[in-house]
Amino acid sequence: MAKIIAGVTSSHVPAIGAAIDNHKTEEPYWKRVFSGFEKSKEWFAKTKPDVVIGVYNDHASAFSVEIVPTFALGCAAEFPPADEGWGPRPVPVVKGHPDLAAHIAQSVILDEFDLTVINKMEVDHGLTVPMNLVMGDPNGAWPCPVIPLAVNVVLFPPPTTHRCFMLGRAIKKAVESYPEDLRVVIFGTGGMSHQISGPRAGLINSKFDKAFLDDLVKNPKKLTKIKHVDLMREAGAEGIELVMWLIMRGALDDKVDEVYRFYTVPASNTAVGHVILENKSRKSGGKAKKAPKKAGKKKK
Ligand code: DHB
Ligand code: FE
Repeated sequence: MAKIIAGVTSSHVPAIGAAIDNHKTEEPYWKRVFSGFEKSKEWFAKTKPDVVIGVYNDHASAFSVEIVPTFALGCAAEFPPADEGWGPRPVPVVKGHPDLAAHIAQSVILDEFDLTVINKMEVDHGLTVPMNLVMGDPNGAWPCPVIPLAVNVVLFPPPTTHRCFMLGRAIKKAVESYPEDLRVVIFGTGGMSHQISGPRAGLINSKFDKAFLDDLVKNPKKLTKIKHVDLMREAGAEGIELVMWLIMRGALDDKVDEVYRFYTVPASNTAVGHVILENKSRKSGGKAKKAPKKAGKKKK
């Protein structure tokens, strides 16, 4: 059986991608940001998931305002980097996992979450920047297939935190009913507090961000009660991207181990928040690294 073993959150600031693409990662401003992801890259290389589900938002790159799906699941075999105005990022094409994606679509839609199935899509910084940060230099090819799940946070109304958490639950169920032994990691990207335009442009609220991180780990149900207006008041208009982190969290067990946390201010206009959460049950499914202590005794 497939199993979600861990979840990762990361901001997806486009300027981080530009710093990588223009070889500026050693500059002091950027080094502060990138140094916070060194441990994450080690963790990813050691964890070696078979598949990543990448929850992110499209920034009017693949979808114009003409079509704005609330939840769009990438079921294609590959997803090229989008041209966001200065040419596509020089990163490899993201290879998908059409079989698992189709299975998730079927399971989740029959569970009454009406996803949009996407068979052709380009992916923007929302997905590829966190991949760089956590997977490291792809050096020609990303280390594993990635199923993109694009969430509308651009055009009002985005889905609620509660809806996102429950979708995460449905994704967990879907993955756990996939017959192949796959170890899956789910990313939730975007956030933390940031506002890009208007009178409050530049807003960053570290107190809110840090409390959000604490609740995300220990008390995510509390976050499912936050209303959009309060999220935007506290975390800025673009801070609404944080709803996507609840999909990641809903796809994990109730109790998780926080194995890593990094928070820094600012990167571009944004507070960067990053956590790695592992399911306590991570060794009971998929190809566990070490044999479980009571190997072969119990099957759940
Ligand atoms: C910035 C952050 C984002 O999440 C984004 O999508 C675009 C810009 C910023 O900090 O400038
Ligand atoms: Fe964004």
